[in-house]
Amino acid sequence: METKFFETADDEAINEVACILAGGGIAAIPTETVYGLAANAFDEKACANVFKAKGRPGDNPLIVHISDISQIYDIVTEFPEKAQILARKFWPGPLTMIMKKSDRIPLVTSGGLDTVAVRFPRHPVAHEIIKRAKVPLAAPSANLSGSPSPTTYMHCVNDLSGRVDAIINGGSSDVGVESTIISFAGEKPVLLRPGYVTLEQLREAIGEVELSRAVLEKLGEGEVALSPGMKYKHYAPKGAVSMVKGEPYADFVNGKYDEDGEVVALCFNEDVVKLKCRTVPYGSRFDDAEQAERLFDALRTLDEIGAKRVYARAPRTTGVGLAVYNRLIRACGFDIIEL
Ligand code: TXA
Ligand code: MG
Repeated sequence: METKFFETADDEAINEVACILAGGGIAAIPTETVYGLAANAFDEKACANVFKAKGRPGDNPLIVHISDISQIYDIVTEFPEKAQILARKFWPGPLTMIMKKSDRIPLVTSGGLDTVAVRFPRHPVAHEIIKRAKVPLAAPSANLSGSPSPTTYMHCVNDLSGRVDAIINGGSSDVGVESTIISFAGEKPVLLRPGYVTLEQLREAIGEVELSRAVLEKLGEGEVALSPGMKYKHYAPKGAVSMVKGEPYADFVNGKYDEDGEVVALCFNEDVVKLKCRTVPYGSRFDDAEQAERLFDALRTLDEIGAKRVYARAPRTTGVGLAVYNRLIRACGFDIIEL
């Protein structure tokens, strides 16, 4: 497939990408969380092509993106009260809500489920493209299945050149981790994936919100994940990665360095001066939003520098830190060292 590259998101480029999507094509577009690989959400064939381009398993559903709240009534059969409260508070923004799906959304899009994930992004380029395409856009993250989500145009170019109709540059994604996902499909609201909108903020807005066990733990063989994506291996660099919890982190990693010169530390900015080995810092220890923004690029950097043995510094599990922790334990394949 021939890919069109749009290096700036000017008016003309936005128009062209919107036309490609309206015509049944697929395109990588920027959002504030990560880049998405978009297709007309109502078009079965276009959505099937998204799965093919990513190498994504067919039972892992896509998120449907809107640019106007009125579009939601074409997508869901019910818009629960609490979901409306969250929509008013956090949309447009990095929050995805799962509700009962309407018949207009094909089963291909929803991975065979009778529910659908909906998000109203706030990135101006995403907003314009959805508006001009005149249809909601189904979009998973625009990476190849298994690699870290793309937060820059170049990440998309590296993963998807020749596999999609277009890629458009909208700068680097400032949130840096995928949207928070909350499900309204069951009795009680459940947080399925933590993100920039935090569990604490959700509870403050609507009261009780359960935390899905898959957020912090590895599910056992045969256990069913509420969010199908949680069961797949994610974000994993090629080298062996362990997460190190507790102190003294630098002493521990320096000890490993003496045994094996291949060691790389995926650490906080403040750790760099204390470490003997190569380092890939992913933000200040005091700033979990910065950690979120930089994590995926740092994971890709580990592969670029050929890191074989990586010790990753554990983030905190509150606020946006919960999102960082959730991605990092997957990158580590749940290999955790407690000091
Ligand atoms: O920030 C984001 O959410 C980005 C941008 C592009 O919007 N998108 C994204 O999509 O991260 P993706 O496909 O990489 O992750 C979507 C997650 C998957 O884990 C999937 O299983 C889950 O959402 N999901 C989608 N629809 C669902 C549904 N109906 N029920 C449960 N989980 C669902
Ligand atoms: Mg993804």
